[in-house]
Amino acid sequence: MRFAKPPADVMPRSVRRRAAADLETFSRGRAPGTQRRAPWSSFRGVATTPVADSTDLQAFFDRCAATGSAEQHGHPQRLLAYRLALVRSLARPRPSDVVLDLGCGTGHHLLALAPEIERGIGIDVSPGMIELARARLRSAPGRANLNFETGNAEELTDIADQSIDLAICIGAFEHMLDKRAVLASIHRVLKPGGRFFCLAPDADYVWYRTIAPLLGWSTRHLSSDRMLNRAEFSALLDQAGFRHIQSAPWTFIPRGDVPALVANLLAVLDAVGRLARSDALRGGLALCAWKQAKPTQPKPA
Ligand SMILES: C[S@@+](CC[C@H](N)C(=O)[O-])C[C@H]1O[C@@H](n2cnc3c(N)ncnc32)[C@H](O)[C@@H]1O
Repeated sequence: MRFAKPPADVMPRSVRRRAAADLETFSRGRAPGTQRRAPWSSFRGVATTPVADSTDLQAFFDRCAATGSAEQHGHPQRLLAYRLALVRSLARPRPSDVVLDLGCGTGHHLLALAPEIERGIGIDVSPGMIELARARLRSAPGRANLNFETGNAEELTDIADQSIDLAICIGAFEHMLDKRAVLASIHRVLKPGGRFFCLAPDADYVWYRTIAPLLGWSTRHLSSDRMLNRAEFSALLDQAGFRHIQSAPWTFIPRGDVPALVANLLAVLDAVGRLARSDALRGGLALCAWKQAKPTQPKPA
């Protein structure tokens, strides 16, 4: 499946200039481990923070939260609108849905989806992120159907079995330490027929797979980060019991992680990839997987 609307990277020069200005603003308050360096000079990629366990992971994202956790990869509103369009296109949220956002961060996806769903629960391992999400919720009228709680997606201890219609995970799965445990938890809490939607970087992206390694540039914010390609992700979903797995490429340009010139080259590759239908040039992997619906009872004779 392909998505029609391209995001900011192929937009007019005036918009790109604004996005570049935004990036400059963000870079001043950049999250720890994500500092940009002078173009080309001593650039060796992103600074990688060592992570041994979920305490380190939580501490990293708490430090990100302390800076406000601003969007790093482009114009915040445009990227948010693009990601929401992907959710709507692949996972089709319904007015009766209870939606769980795993690794919700500042909660912006759920806050935007709230008017379209019955109820939303955002969970994040970082208390700092949950504080930011709750602060946003307090200043967003008409979002009484949402709540945000600290929690680990590997366990989902406070979420009842078969209580969720749609679980979403955006820009977080690659950071989660035990991916099998996360998928098992999601499968447990989904209702029969429920679906899991995920947006992640694609491990087969030419930038991650070939160009950055050739240049010797690091691409991981956390030493524990692990990206998956389509086949690996599908296999894990299958092992967790999901059926009917759909996937599609999406435009993900890691603008916050590379000098502007490289980001612009990646945007050109993305445009070529969209035309040539070459997923390896696109950067992002979108997946939606279904938990099997209850088998229908045979009618009594
Ligand atoms: C890059 S942020 C993305 C946040 C948000 N989804 C967004 O798109 O803006 C990744 C988030 O995943 C959270 N996270 C990582 N591992 C987690 C886990 N095992 N359980 C819950 N949250 C986790 C982090 O605390 C962080 O807030």
